[in-house]
Amino acid sequence: MRYSPIDQQFFVDNRKKLVRELKPNSLAVFNSNDIMPTNADGSMVFKQNNDLFYLTGIEQEESILVICPGFREEKKREILFLRQPNEHLEKWYGHKLTKEEAQAISGIETVMWLPDFDALFHHLMAMSGAENVYLNTNEHYRSEVVVQTRDARFVDWCRAKYPLHTYQRVAPLMGKLRRTKSALEIKLIQQACDITEKGFRRVLKFTKPGVKEYEIEAEYIHEFIRHGSKGFAYTPIIASGKNNVVLHYIENNQECKTGELILLDVAAEYANYNSDLTRTIPVNGKFSPRQKEVYNAVLHIQREAMKMLRPSVVYFDYQKEIEKLMESELKKLKLISDNDIKNQNPDNPVFKKYFYHGTSHMLGLDVHDVGNMHDPVQVGSVWTIEPGIYIKEEGFGVRLENNVVIGEKENFDLMRNIPIEADEIETLMNQ
Ligand code: GLY
Ligand code: MN
Ligand code: MN
Repeated sequence: MRYSPIDQQFFVDNRKKLVRELKPNSLAVFNSNDIMPTNADGSMVFKQNNDLFYLTGIEQEESILVICPGFREEKKREILFLRQPNEHLEKWYGHKLTKEEAQAISGIETVMWLPDFDALFHHLMAMSGAENVYLNTNEHYRSEVVVQTRDARFVDWCRAKYPLHTYQRVAPLMGKLRRTKSALEIKLIQQACDITEKGFRRVLKFTKPGVKEYEIEAEYIHEFIRHGSKGFAYTPIIASGKNNVVLHYIENNQECKTGELILLDVAAEYANYNSDLTRTIPVNGKFSPRQKEVYNAVLHIQREAMKMLRPSVVYFDYQKEIEKLMESELKKLKLISDNDIKNQNPDNPVFKKYFYHGTSHMLGLDVHDVGNMHDPVQVGSVWTIEPGIYIKEEGFGVRLENNVVIGEKENFDLMRNIPIEADEIETLMNQ
């Protein structure tokens, strides 16, 4: 593993927190993700299911966690099932976890091999204490899952085999637990932010007219990987010129030209925790007066937003407030007028021409992290603050994105050390 080992107590505590949320007489099951195929005998890099990771620390495929707090044998109230290592696996794919190693990572005493799953699971399901069966589904508000996950296959299998148990959704409980970060999680996200900072500083030195967007991508990934990150937290967006008004531009294949801005929405993961940074910089190291004017409007909104996203605020109310602030900045930039606002269609307000995404999302093991966006903002949750103004007719856009921890008295900016003032960006690019 590339990161320093995580104290098993973290995973022990997470399971305890989950057990407190379950109804009496319950059993919960979590499956790892599949190794996703590409073509022929190819596969994608394995990415663990984040709920399973949060509860066990196990990063191996074909793993199952069963939690059954009411089982009479204390040792079997938590069981981890793993694929059994063998000589063939070892020769082709390298080391697979032993029982002892899995115990040490997760703090789970009972680790069994997968072939024992069916019989033991049947035993647990047949006892009187397993009335409610909690299974895991992807209920993220933006998920678009067209392939059946291992969890989803398990739901089908389990319901077919045990049709008369009462089934419950564990996803809302996991969202509730995962949205509030422990000190350890905040430290890991800070580490991801610090690695991202190194990448960004390297790119500030590297960028000049004539470089290709993918050359910038290469600078980032070199810096991320050499500092212990597995890589990008999400597909990087390196959008110069007119492409920086396209929110999900990921081709990264254009030449960066003098006079253009480059929008860099690029960040590292660390120990499966993510950061999410956006900066917008001038290709030639100097903002034009108009670019700087728009840049400073976005920076002003970001700083105001950091004060507004506070405990007990509901995200959607905050977004409305940001939109009002955005309207006033767009007026100052002479992009919209009072008259435009007066005559606007309330279902499609005029500011949407220049600002067409949400200002914040939670961040953690997922980049767009789990947790109910309709609940009030919680102390200890981590959010992005990412306003943007995109002016297609002027051929550029600006987005600035930082990551903050919601604190009781004030928010803490995990990206406080990453250059953001236009003057500082210019100075660093011209050194
Ligand atoms: N990088 C993805 C986002 O900003 O939400
Ligand atoms: Mn981003
Ligand atoms: Mn973001």
